[in-house]
Formats: sequence, C-alpha cells, structure tokens
Amino acid sequence: MEENNDFLQDADVQDFDREIQQYHLGPLWHAIPDLMKHSPEPHAQAYLWKYDLIYKKLMDAATIFTPERGGERRAIYFQNPGLNYRKPWGWASTTQTLYTAVQLLLPGEEAPSHRHAQNAHRFIMEGEGAYSIVDGQRVFMERGDYVITPAGSWHGHGHLGDKPMIWMDTLDIPTVYYAAGTFFENYEDQLQKPELPDNYTSNRYLGGMVRPINDRYPKSVPVGNYKWNGTIAALRGLEKFEEPDLYDGYAVEFINPSNGETAVPTIAAWMQLLPKGFHSKAHRHTHSSVYHVHEGSGYTIINGTRFDWSKGDYFVVPNWAIHEHFAEEESLLFQSNDLPIMEKLNLERKEIYDKNNGHQFIKDEFKPIILPVTR
Ligand SMILES: [Fe+2]
Ligand SMILES: [Fe+2]
Repeated sequence: MEENNDFLQDADVQDFDREIQQYHLGPLWHAIPDLMKHSPEPHAQAYLWKYDLIYKKLMDAATIFTPERGGERRAIYFQNPGLNYRKPWGWASTTQTLYTAVQLLLPGEEAPSHRHAQNAHRFIMEGEGAYSIVDGQRVFMERGDYVITPAGSWHGHGHLGDKPMIWMDTLDIPTVYYAAGTFFENYEDQLQKPELPDNYTSNRYLGGMVRPINDRYPKSVPVGNYKWNGTIAALRGLEKFEEPDLYDGYAVEFINPSNGETAVPTIAAWMQLLPKGFHSKAHRHTHSSVYHVHEGSGYTIINGTRFDWSKGDYFVVPNWAIHEHFAEEESLLFQSNDLPIMEKLNLERKEIYDKNNGHQFIKDEFKPIILPVTR
C-alpha cells in the first residue's frame, strides 16, 4: 500500500513540528515512519574481524595494561561500525543488544572479583590452567569450554598455567545500558578465596541426564563450566543418526540443567558443526548473532555479501539479515545470540528464503581489515 507522507512537507506542519519541540513535545505523525518500521532495520552492520588482527592487538595490549581494580579486565571488544554513534563508547555494542570481546590473561595474573547486573558467558579459545572463581568456586578452563557468570554472581580470574590464556566474553552490556538497569560492585578483596571444591558445580551434574533433587528450585548457577568433551560428544552423536538442520547444520544449545532454559537468561550459546561441503539454506530472523570460528573455514553470505572466515575469526549477522553458511572443511562455529531477549519481548520472527532454491546470489565480497605484513 502506497503511503502518503507529503503532508510532512507542508510549511504549516513543519513549523508546528519544530515549534512544539521547544516545549519538549513531539509530533508522532512525523516520527512514525522513522521509528515504527515495517520490519527490522538494525543500525548494526554485518561485519567480520580476522583473528590475526585480534591476536596482535591483544598481545600489544599486554605491553601497556595489566588487569587491576578499576580497569578490571584486559579485554578488547568488537565495536560494530554501525553503532559507533552510541555515546559513550558505542555502548560497546557488537550487535544492537550484545557485547562480545576477547580477553587475555597472562600466567600469574589475577583479574579482581566483582559482580554486576550484566549477564556474561565465555568461550575458551586458547590455553589452560586459568580459572574463573564464581561465587567462591574455582572453575578451571581449557580450550573449547563454555563458562558462565550470570548476573549477580561474584567472579574474578586467576592463572596458574604457563601460557597466555585467551577467551571470548559475551555480555548484555548494551541492553542493560539502554534499560538503565546497571549495578556494579567490587569485591572487598582483590580476588575472592575458594569457598567450595574446585569445579564443584560441573561435578554435581556429571550424570548429564539427572538433576540433584535440591535443584528443583535452584538458588545459584547450577553449572559453571560446560566441558568441551561433552559438547563435541553431543554433536558427534547427532551427526551419527540425523540429517543436519537445513539452516544451522548440527547444532546444540547450552542449557541450564535445572530448568531447561538457556544457560544464561538473556544470551543463548550454540555450538554448530558444519560438515565439509555443507551448504545451508538461507533464512532470516529477528534475533542477531555473533559467530566465532572455533575450527574450520568457509563463508557466510549475509544479505548478498560473502564473508570468508577461518579459524579464530568473529563475525556478526545482524537482525533480520538473510544468511546462509558454506563449510569448505568440517567447521565448528560458536554462536552467541540474543534470541532469549527477543523471546522475552515477544519479538522473535523467522522467515525462510524461498527464491533460487534457498540460496542467495553473491553480489559482493566483504574485505576485512588485514594487518600489514611486517618483516
Ligand atoms: Fe565481570
Ligand atoms: Fe540463522
């Protein structure tokens, strides 16, 4: 249906629209086409960061910054170029709602304990021997593990190993900032002391399919660390007997085993296995995603632009963007997404792309920023 907005150009209307704003009043007729779109038009852009660049900048950061009270963490976040206008600091937005960063902890370092209203989850990219201490429990982390610190839990990090430790963090920082719901508290000491056995919560759920009876009404984080061997075993199990999902390949979601919901209330975490040569069909949905390439290589076509990826890279699929994946070799993609936020707001919708047998035409190729070769 054609819409007639010509009246907005009338001198009388324009004068009035300007005039009422001095009284802190606004004309809905003028605002409606900009604010209530027919479908999502996120300001966040599809974007990709290469791991070489991320790694180099983390190592550079190690020469200028140590994690101490105040700065708290040696973390570099992925600032979506479409959201730079948000002040301050682009709200540290990787998507409209989520922040994703990479964090480096060196052997012997400690990042102080604190707690906040923001939910957090981590995916371990490199190293072993570091731990997060979450509500008095040391949770030791190694490559491929998924670790959570939901809102309100005390958490700090220490490193007893001998090699740099690198992990990914995703938090709901932009959402909490937008909602003006933030609280942040420092722990009284630098790093909380252990009050529970190491890896306590993971051991309580070693059975996998059974729940301790007292967790019918859980009071705290039921599981701190989801070990890689469990995640990959689940994916191999799916692969044995099922066809891959048309859009996501073989994929599992990290859940809170006490209630079956996402491990973190506002952020979903998935691990996806795309077999070599797998080409997904295209679709789009309201929620946005940040992908991390744990293993493998391939490309994702987002709204007709091809984004080539390989091990370690990060890329964003914004809200309502048509996307499909192709795996040049067997690939494992870790995905953080804001599906729980969209579901809580009753905003989630999905649409399959049914033209051209479900595949987009490639109109363009994304050129990531590459570091100059130094000799
Ligand atoms: Fe934190
Ligand atoms: Fe998708």
